[in-house]
Amino acid sequence: MNAGTAPAGLTDLSKYIYGATRLGHDGLAQSARVDMALRAMAAGIWFHVSHEYGNALEVLRTAFDADRARVPKMIFKIGFRTVAEVRETVLRDLDALAIEAMDIGQLCLVDGLAEDFSNGGASVDAILQLREEGLVRRFVLEVFPWSSAAALAAIDNGVADRTVDGFIFYLNPLQRFALNPLWHRLRQRGDAIVAMRTVAGNHVHALRDVPGAAWKEYLQQRAVDVAPVFDRAGVPDWSEFCVRFAHSFPEVRATVGSTARSDNFERFVEVANAPIEPLARETLAALEQLAEQWSDAFDRHAAPGSM
Ligand SMILES: NC(=O)c1ccc[n+]([C@@H]2O[C@H](COP(=O)([O-])OP(=O)(O)OC[C@H]3O[C@@H](n4cnc5c(N)ncnc54)[C@H](OP(=O)(O)O)[C@@H]3O)[C@@H](O)[C@H]2O)c1
Repeated sequence: MNAGTAPAGLTDLSKYIYGATRLGHDGLAQSARVDMALRAMAAGIWFHVSHEYGNALEVLRTAFDADRARVPKMIFKIGFRTVAEVRETVLRDLDALAIEAMDIGQLCLVDGLAEDFSNGGASVDAILQLREEGLVRRFVLEVFPWSSAAALAAIDNGVADRTVDGFIFYLNPLQRFALNPLWHRLRQRGDAIVAMRTVAGNHVHALRDVPGAAWKEYLQQRAVDVAPVFDRAGVPDWSEFCVRFAHSFPEVRATVGSTARSDNFERFVEVANAPIEPLARETLAALEQLAEQWSDAFDRHAAPGSM
C-alpha cells in the first residue's frame, strides 16, 4: 500500500497530532503562534496542516526556519477538483514550508474528481504518480457523511487498497463523519483511522450552555446528550475523555486537535503519551449508540459542507 520505508497501517503516527488551525488565527499575536508551533515541534509529535488555515503555513515556516532539525512529520490537506489542482496544492505547500516531500497527503476530493477516483478512473494513476515522484509518501482518504458512499465504493472496487493507508474524518464524542455502513466496514476490515477534531471544538458544557459556542445547532443538541455521559464517567477532564474516546477504537492511530494554549496542549500530550486506557465499556456503548442514531437520523441527509 505505501511506498518506501514507512510502516503500513499508519502505525508510526503520534497518538495526538497537533492541528495547525489555531496557528492561523489572527486574533493571537503572530509571535505567540510561532512560540506555540515551536512548543509542539519540541514535543516531537506529528502536525496536521493546510493552506486553508489562515496564515498558518507562514507561521510554521518561521518556526521551521528557527529549528530545521525539529521539522515535524505532517499530514497535509491536498485536493480538490482536478488532478492538476492536487499537484498544484502539493507543490505550493512544499514550497511554502521549504520541504521536499509530504509524509501524508490527505485526499480531499470533491465533485467530478471524487467520483472519478472512487470509480477507479484516470485520476487514480495521476494521483499515484505523486507518490512515484516522491512528492507524497502516503495518502489517506478524507471522508464526510456526504462522501461516505464514495469511500465505500473505493473500498469495494479495490481503489482504496491501491492508494491509501487509511481514512481520516471527524471522530469525537459528538461527531462521527463516516456514516454507519462505512464505519462498520472500516472496523470489520481493520482499516487505519485518523480521528479529527479531538474535543469537537470546545468543552461539552460550553457547547451545551454557552450561546454561540457550538458553530451549528446540531452540535449544541448533541452536547445535551453527551454531557451527562461525560459527567457520569468520572474522567478528570474533557481533553482526557476525548483522547481516550478516540483511542477506544483499536483502528484509530491518532486524534487531531488544535489549541493555542500551552495548558491545553500539555494536557493533550500528557494524556496521549501515557498508556491510553479506553473509556469504560458502558460509557463507550452510550456514545456509540448516539453516533449510530445521529448517522441515520441526521448525518446521512446532510448536504455537503452543512455540518
Ligand atoms: N477537513 C479537515 O481536514 C479538517 C476539518 C476540521 C479540522 N481539521 C483538523 O483538526 C484539527 C482540530 O480541529 P478543530 O480545531 O476544528 O477542533 P478541536 O481540536 O476539537 O477544537 C479546537 C478548539 O478547542 C479548544 N480546546 C482545546 N482543548 C479544550 C478543552 N479541554 N476545553 C475546551 N476547549 C478546548 C481550543 O481552544 P484553545 O486554543 O483556547 O485551547 C480550540 O479553540 C484542526 O487544527 C485541523 O488540523 C481538519
